[in-house]
Amino acid sequence: MKKIVITGASGFIGQYLTKALHNEGYQVITTSLRKPIPVEDLARLFTGSDIVINLCGKSVDCRYHAANKKAILTSRIHTTELIGRALSSCSRPPSLWINAGTATIYRDERERPNSESNGLIGEGFSVNVAKEWESAFFGFETLPIRMVVLRMGIVLGSGGGALPPLLMLSRMGLGGKQGDGRQMMSWIHIDDVKRAILFVMHQPSINGVVNLVAPHAVSNRDFMRILRKSSAVPFGIPLPRVLLEMGAFMIRTETELLLKSRWVYPEKLLSEGFAFTYERADKALADLIQ
Ligand SMILES: NC(=O)c1ccc[n+]([C@@H]2O[C@H](COP(=O)([O-])OP(=O)(O)OC[C@H]3O[C@@H](n4cnc5c(N)ncnc54)[C@H](OP(=O)(O)O)[C@@H]3O)[C@@H](O)[C@H]2O)c1
Repeated sequence: MKKIVITGASGFIGQYLTKALHNEGYQVITTSLRKPIPVEDLARLFTGSDIVINLCGKSVDCRYHAANKKAILTSRIHTTELIGRALSSCSRPPSLWINAGTATIYRDERERPNSESNGLIGEGFSVNVAKEWESAFFGFETLPIRMVVLRMGIVLGSGGGALPPLLMLSRMGLGGKQGDGRQMMSWIHIDDVKRAILFVMHQPSINGVVNLVAPHAVSNRDFMRILRKSSAVPFGIPLPRVLLEMGAFMIRTETELLLKSRWVYPEKLLSEGFAFTYERADKALADLIQ
């Protein structure tokens, strides 16, 4: 039986993964790094484990004022560095360290998909967080441990993340395109997140950056149309940027999460032979909304 340690496991992805990996027969140990924990204690926890999966990070679903920006950044950098230091002092370290990352690292893209080999990195606050997060991670690349960072797109699941609020908007009749609707959405079904993680575990040739998105991104306009169809809502009023800005201010979030165009391609997973269960958004949404 393989022993897996998951940090940041109380969230949307962590809860799903913990349960799913447990059901697959793995021994799963979870720990929170919200409060300071001595590096020796963490090293002891990692000793003898096979895999460490780090999902820590303050949610980006908030207003980007100075205090939140700082917490978004430090909750990712400090936890990654702490894990790296603990792994460095482990007597029997795991063979694989998987760290969460984000597909937001790529530029606002409307021309072509970004793969690991040809992707163009963007700019701005969220991109800088993504870059610093990865450089904290790869700061430990001399460790004798296989290291994989998952540049995840929008994870779709019924237990949290982006889908429930979008579904609620749609059911209220407000599920038309957002902004000009031409921004691309790179998404992934949460079950394919779990399956891809298992695939990475068993595929020692996979190293470094991995785009964790379904192969078929869709425009926001198409995504909302599929969402309306899957939830049997006959119409959806479009939400122009100015209305979204007002709404985001009222519910204390940012429009970037909806309006940035993320067009990402999972070149590495596909070339290694990974088969997505949910390649297209209509199948993923039909499954999740059922
Ligand atoms: N969901 C997505 O669509 C998506 C897309 C791209 C990337 N990601 C990244 O994947 C990771 C997991 O995503 P998620 O959707 O499961 O996020 P989530 O629901 O917000 O959970 C993140 C977890 O991080 C820990 N955490 C929260 N604040 C923290 C802090 N200040 N310091 C240290 N740890 C903190 C918590 O776990 P504990 O209570 O166990 O400490 C929390 O449950 C995140 O890093 C996120 O940025 C997610």
